[in-house]
Amino acid sequence: GLSLQYHQTHTMALRFEVLGRFNRARAARLTLPHFLCETPLFMPVGTQGTIKGLTTHQLEEIGCQIILGNTYHLALRPTSELIDDLGGLHKFMNWPRALLTDSGGFQMVSLLHLADITEEGVTFQSPVDGKPMLLTPEESIQIQNRIGADIIMALDDVVKTTITGPRIEEAMYRTLRWIDRCIAAHKRPKEQNLFGIVQGGLDPVLRDICVQGLVERNLPGYAIGGLAGGEDKDSFWRVVAQCTASLPESKPRYVMGVGYPLDIVVCSALGADMYDCVYPTRTARFGTALVPEGVLKLKHQSMADDTRPIDSTCECMVCKNYTRAYLHCLVTKDAMGSQLLSYHNLYYMLQLSRNLHSSIIEGTFPNFVCDFLKKMFPEGD
Ligand code: GUN
Ligand code: ZN
Repeated sequence: GLSLQYHQTHTMALRFEVLGRFNRARAARLTLPHFLCETPLFMPVGTQGTIKGLTTHQLEEIGCQIILGNTYHLALRPTSELIDDLGGLHKFMNWPRALLTDSGGFQMVSLLHLADITEEGVTFQSPVDGKPMLLTPEESIQIQNRIGADIIMALDDVVKTTITGPRIEEAMYRTLRWIDRCIAAHKRPKEQNLFGIVQGGLDPVLRDICVQGLVERNLPGYAIGGLAGGEDKDSFWRVVAQCTASLPESKPRYVMGVGYPLDIVVCSALGADMYDCVYPTRTARFGTALVPEGVLKLKHQSMADDTRPIDSTCECMVCKNYTRAYLHCLVTKDAMGSQLLSYHNLYYMLQLSRNLHSSIIEGTFPNFVCDFLKKMFPEGD
């Protein structure tokens, strides 16, 4: 076709080498401009240029390789122009490793119910002064070029998977039209990788058209969007399985907004490579710790005199130094409580990613998945 090919006009700023496979699962090395990452890869989510409660030094300490920043938040404050003037987001937040920014449209639609999508872009009311604003594909890319992340995301038209009808089809075709505007607007392809986003709701025909359309553009990587919005697990996994089956083997695959530890294990088995989710840090702020058995609620009265660590098998700084009783005492009364829980929860997610990577390489992936499931569902349900 006459579609605009990314790789024809742009060089790619990444290398993706699959080091091992087990059926559809892959373990790879993803070389980005600022860091060499290993997949499966979990990306903690930051908003205002920070992961709430953790310093960038602590993030390095727990082996975090890449973090996600939100274009929408950063563009409002401190603004992308200021970040650019101050030398880019890496320097601004003192994070030497990799960064990814989302395009902003999804955040507007999910945070601001007043957002309205037209062919031009996403219109919304500025939360700063209430003025109507328009985020076009061109502007999203320009902002992300100023912020300077290793991976930038195309502006997509996102609709909830729980709605049905012609709106799903319209959003998918619009996402395909917008990808060409994003490719044309991208001014730093030697330093930043533009990923396209597959939309199409739960409809396999629409998902397939979107995958084919994006693959023709030869982008450096592909995301599967529009999930984790309340659809049932079966439909969610089916969409991921379908998309990973037809996306190129040689490019990274990123499932957006996912997820829970179980989702990451399942999606990795289905051939996905990258994930982001606010869950580990958000749930920490509500006093919940992630453990192999599922979750541990530190607020619960039974924790008050429990001298064990959160998880005796965890090697993180929190589990080495603090008891459940101490954390129970902190968790609602001091910011340190949510900081320590966030630290442990992110360590848990990053360790899960590392275990997935090494078990795929070593050929022990099925055993790893079995052990994971047995601990999480001891009754076999
Ligand atoms: N975050 C979670 N899901 C999505 C999606 O479908 N699109 C974008 N841009 N970001 C997301
Ligand atoms: Zn721990």
